[in-house]
Amino acid sequence: MQHYTIGDTGLEVSRVALGTWAIGGWMWGGTEERKSIDTIHAALDKGINLIDTAPVYGFGTSEEIVGKAVEEYSGGKRPYLSTKVTLDWTDGDGIRRNGSRERIMREVEDSLKRLRSDSIDIYYVHWPDCTRPIEETAAVMRELHEKKIVRAVGVSNFTQDQMNAFQKECPLHLCQPPYNIFERGIEADIKPYCERHNIALMTYGALCRGLLSGKMSQEREFEGDDLRNNDPKFQQPRFDSYLEAAKKIENLAKKRFDVSILAFSLRWIFEKGIPIAIWGGRKPEQIQPVDEIMGWSMDLATLSAVDSILAEVIEKPVGPEFMAPPTGLVS
Ligand SMILES: NC(=O)c1ccc[n+]([C@@H]2O[C@H](COP(=O)([O-])OP(=O)(O)OC[C@H]3O[C@@H](n4cnc5c(N)ncnc54)[C@H](OP(=O)(O)O)[C@@H]3O)[C@@H](O)[C@H]2O)c1
Repeated sequence: MQHYTIGDTGLEVSRVALGTWAIGGWMWGGTEERKSIDTIHAALDKGINLIDTAPVYGFGTSEEIVGKAVEEYSGGKRPYLSTKVTLDWTDGDGIRRNGSRERIMREVEDSLKRLRSDSIDIYYVHWPDCTRPIEETAAVMRELHEKKIVRAVGVSNFTQDQMNAFQKECPLHLCQPPYNIFERGIEADIKPYCERHNIALMTYGALCRGLLSGKMSQEREFEGDDLRNNDPKFQQPRFDSYLEAAKKIENLAKKRFDVSILAFSLRWIFEKGIPIAIWGGRKPEQIQPVDEIMGWSMDLATLSAVDSILAEVIEKPVGPEFMAPPTGLVS
């Protein structure tokens, strides 16, 4: 496993992080605690030392399972944990963004309890709360960092302007946007911005919600509230075009490097200069391919072959915007 040191924080994290949204169950058709804990242990056994979670992932469930799994783990050092703040579900009327001091202070207490810890290694503002100045949220994050409750501060799903405003009030160590072979919006602005400002990119959705796992097919049914029932990439006729592109990428990965599409997709992210990629899993066997990601690299011809496949096969590309929670603004 390769590692990456985040700025001056002293955090030396594995370049693959385990994402635990699905482990929370909400928007993924439910969860099983024992299987989830075994998945986290399988990741730690494989050398992954960074687990990403959030309070909203199952309204506390994911954080609780992560806290329990880490406490139960006897195989080595305690991993680093990243969690998030500012999504509020407490008024019983869906989810809204809330970056107020009151909400953040309440959430940090709750997260520490669930994670069974007295500090948080990486704390992200999950989505910007545009109903108040970004600086207001940033000032609370600075306070938590100064009190050493939070070791590194991050933002997720922010624009450049929002990061500029945030940095007026608080040091910014990380940024968590979406990024994978099919979702490359950050290449135009967020990625160069973070590189210029020494903000570590820890990108999410490495497998594009399973499309790049090598196991996705037309026959796959998504249970209950699984977000893929509403994900535009998973609706026909688009779904077929993404499956066809994935098949071609799978063949390319096999022919040129004899690796799976899953390993290829993670390696592709690193070849693009991203330091840390989050891979979501919820079954121990899903974590097994991690060894295949390290120890090789891609040539430029392969990177452009991927671009050609996308241009040739996907007529109507679509991004991950459907995931954004309501802004609370009347537009
Ligand atoms: N900051 C944000 O706003 C934000 C947003 C989204 C995600 N995230 C973070 O990023 C993480 C990763 O994103 P993501 O969960 O959307 O997804 P992802 O990594 O693109 O895809 C994860 C899904 O792919 C499937 N999968 C994983 N390994 C597999 C394997 N070996 N074989 C077959 N299928 C496999 C699983 O789906 P099935 O089990 O259903 O097959 C898994 O739930 C999240 O868990 C979360 O921590 C953050």
